[in-house]
Amino acid sequence: MCGIVGYIGCEQAGPFLLDGLERLEYRGYDSAGVCLNTGSELVVKKAKGELKVLKELTKNGKDLHGTVGIGHTRWATHGEPSDVNAHPHLSESGRFAVVHNGIIENYQQLKDYLTSKGIVFRSMTDTEVIAQLLEYYYQGDLIDTVIKVLGKLDGSYALGVISKDNPDEIIAVRKESPLIIGLGENENYLASDVTAILSKTRTIIRLENNELAILTREGVNIISTEKDEIKKNTETIEWDVSAAEKGGYEHFMFKEIMEQPAAISETISPRIKNGRVILDEIKLSDEELRSFTKINILACGSAYHVGVVAKYIFEKMLRIPVEADLASEFRYRDPIINDKTLTVVISQSGETADTKEAMREAQRRGSHVISIVNVVGSAIASESDDVIYTWAGPEIAVATTKAYSTQLAVVYLMALYMGEKLGTIVPEEYDALVNELEHLPEKIEKVLENKAKIQYLASKYFNTRDIFFIGRNIDYALSLEGSLKLKEISYIHSEAYAAGELKHGTISLIEKGTPVIALVTHEELIGKMVSNIEEVKTRGAQVMCIACDDHPEMETVGQTVFIPKVCDMLLPSLAVIPLQLFAYYVASLKGCDIDKPRNLAKSVTVE
Ligand code: AGP
Repeated sequence: MCGIVGYIGCEQAGPFLLDGLERLEYRGYDSAGVCLNTGSELVVKKAKGELKVLKELTKNGKDLHGTVGIGHTRWATHGEPSDVNAHPHLSESGRFAVVHNGIIENYQQLKDYLTSKGIVFRSMTDTEVIAQLLEYYYQGDLIDTVIKVLGKLDGSYALGVISKDNPDEIIAVRKESPLIIGLGENENYLASDVTAILSKTRTIIRLENNELAILTREGVNIISTEKDEIKKNTETIEWDVSAAEKGGYEHFMFKEIMEQPAAISETISPRIKNGRVILDEIKLSDEELRSFTKINILACGSAYHVGVVAKYIFEKMLRIPVEADLASEFRYRDPIINDKTLTVVISQSGETADTKEAMREAQRRGSHVISIVNVVGSAIASESDDVIYTWAGPEIAVATTKAYSTQLAVVYLMALYMGEKLGTIVPEEYDALVNELEHLPEKIEKVLENKAKIQYLASKYFNTRDIFFIGRNIDYALSLEGSLKLKEISYIHSEAYAAGELKHGTISLIEKGTPVIALVTHEELIGKMVSNIEEVKTRGAQVMCIACDDHPEMETVGQTVFIPKVCDMLLPSLAVIPLQLFAYYVASLKGCDIDKPRNLAKSVTVE
């Protein structure tokens, strides 16, 4: 997520803008910039890299002149991290400057239109389109122009806009991406979250969707896109800075668990148009797609667990053989792959050494590589043949949650996209699956509302020495992730097992009171799973189940956390939520360092 700040008052704006951007650094970013309205022109200073580069560029703000300005820390979605892609973006003549957080889904069409009118773009970003549209439609009234441009935009945005012609105003507007106004004495502030302004004020106004704020030194006026006045209540922030950075939650991990519906929505909605999956990122022709005889998936850790889920989904829907490989193993087994193998590489950071080297090995052997990555411009994203970005925003907690979930979402998109091309999905099923996928975020919201029982179960088991996770088919793939989440943040030993395999040895470890978490969401295998659960229960296991709410009888089998019934393909996205929350609550009860677990790094860039 990008960071936005703005200042209008009687002091020089530069110092506040740089300080505010510094307080937003925790959100993760790859470039930063500011724009000052000097009264006669808009002056932009921006640079790729850390904020210190911008500070050096502006002599720590001494070279910034003006009492009105906007600033931005960028987390790249469209266009690599670079000086020219950094915000703020100016319109062609320099009349307007814009900072933006969100994704403009129809930016390419708008850019093509403006280009056809002779407008020359400087950057690869969707944001610059907004600045150029403002200039294109400007007839002399700033508010009217902003409202007209908003009507052209599809997608999500939090915008800060300043104009050379209106040196005593900042315009702010949001749709989906958060934006707040801070109220001061003869000065007012704009920010994407409260951390940026707590040094100045604790009195804020939270903008709602399609509300425009007009900030002046004297005050803030809120109007609708129909220009009707809107009365807003102010809010007093009691949080300290640390709490504010986590959105009021105790840990980044919890904040990111709660962000999953929005992250999935950001990732899928730009790629579903009129009921069809559009993946323009895949540069392969239909014929090339049909030519593949195997899919190989390479990843590490949780990303590998997404790969195991993908194996089940791709094989079921595309009817070609799929292998999910641990990247660190793939490299050294002299793999049998060639130009008829499609390689899918999954990585949140895009910098994991084992995954990067495995990708290179696959390419050396002639395989076409599609990567699923969360960090724009990362090594894996840059070196793969095609990259499909997850738009989860920066993930701060070491234990991945929202990146994992958005990787799953991209797997679903790929399965539908390729299934349609290969003709292995009948149109009725395709339509039904796309419709269910579009409603996935709201189903996840429902699961997130059901925390109490998970908290209770965590309180029962948090002192245990061992926990087992068992499942069959796609539930087995999910048990891998549930086990890793618990291990990496609570330090409790746990194992994930294919439920049908347990009796071939490991069941000897089950003794009285051993907790077993059984994933029982896959309809066809419920009977088999109940048998496996009975096997462990007769040996004394305490069983917790995760099952769909159309099987209430599961409560008699074990203490059950229910999830809404959805099509098989989407079950992992719902069933993983209780597993994430269970691990979080157990680790919290144990007093572990949840965001920074011992021995772990967010990105493992060494082999
Ligand atoms: C997951 O919670 C862990 N942090 C770890 O397993 C991680 O998934 C793995 O290191 C892969 O990282 P990547 O997705 O950045 O490649």
